[in-house]
Amino acid sequence: MAYTQLSPPQADDVSSLIPYAILAPSSHNTQPWRFRVVDNSVYLYADRTKALPANDPDDRELTISCGCAAMNLRIAAAHAGLATHLEILPHSENDELLAVASFSNASDTVLSDAELFRFIVERRTYRKRFTEEAISDVALQRLTEAATAEQAWLQVLEHESDRHCVSELVSEGDAMQWANPSWRRELAAWMHPRRKGDGLPVPWLVAPFAQVVVRTFDMGNGIGAKDKELAEQSPVLAVLGTARDAPSDWFVAGQGLERVLLTACQNGLQASYLNQAVQIPSLRTKLQHSLHCDGYPQIVLRLGFPSETLPTSPRRNALEVIDKV
Ligand SMILES: Cc1cc2nc3c(=O)[nH]c(=O)nc-3n(C[C@H](O)[C@H](O)[C@H](O)COP(=O)(O)O)c2cc1C
Repeated sequence: MAYTQLSPPQADDVSSLIPYAILAPSSHNTQPWRFRVVDNSVYLYADRTKALPANDPDDRELTISCGCAAMNLRIAAAHAGLATHLEILPHSENDELLAVASFSNASDTVLSDAELFRFIVERRTYRKRFTEEAISDVALQRLTEAATAEQAWLQVLEHESDRHCVSELVSEGDAMQWANPSWRRELAAWMHPRRKGDGLPVPWLVAPFAQVVVRTFDMGNGIGAKDKELAEQSPVLAVLGTARDAPSDWFVAGQGLERVLLTACQNGLQASYLNQAVQIPSLRTKLQHSLHCDGYPQIVLRLGFPSETLPTSPRRNALEVIDKV
């Protein structure tokens, strides 16, 4: 289904918010979430059957992805005139329960979130080159405020030396990841035709070939050089992070990330990820020290103006991720 064919969220049916939650980004497009509607609340669970043990052994990015979904849920609720009370990692016997969202009639402040609603369907991960147009200081300010509003931070890399340092770490990370056969196998497993509703889509005719190439060949050098160039040439390179590094902070990072991405979209921008330097622990420590981060880097983003509108990436049907009570 095209994202634009979705029915609008309804205040008297909170399950109508879930089709918007699942448009959130997720690593390898695994969509590692499940939902349950109990009375007027939405329970958000991690789906660890979609975990990426080679890429994300601690489920950090999995939890960030679920945080992104929670942000969309809140924004869809605001569009329906509802304020969301979100309890993160509530006490529960179920380790998979990440958050419970309950809803009430919204005040004006929360309703300002509704302005971001239309960008849920317009956001894309934009892996191509951006145009050369510079991003205004006002827009950058809005992005950093978006992260702060969610108790995360966004450090925009303004100095050439910082950009250079991150670009080097990204290409070093590419080399390390591509040299790891388990990492390559995992990536290949999530590259498949879009009809499955998840993963990184490749046309069905070339899918078997692409999977074999990714599984078999260490392309770290070539990809590292390309990513380094993308990092150096993007109008903005930024690191999103949190003060601490516990699972609740990862969830917070996800909410901050999605608010930044939607605010970017509101300002005509799109983003993509260069997370290699955060995914590999030794590089993450280097990144943290080189940038004098105020806590823990969680995501590395490049941002800019897209030169074209990309097709949407696939999603599982909402009914497949909603558990019956
Ligand atoms: C926590 C997280 C980590 C991600 N890491 C990467 C990454 O390292 N490289 C990349 O190209 N995309 C990355 N993505 C983007 C996903 O691949 C993308 O969200 C997914 O394919 C769905 O596409 P969409 O964002 O256009 O809806 C990441 C997304 C999230 C939420």
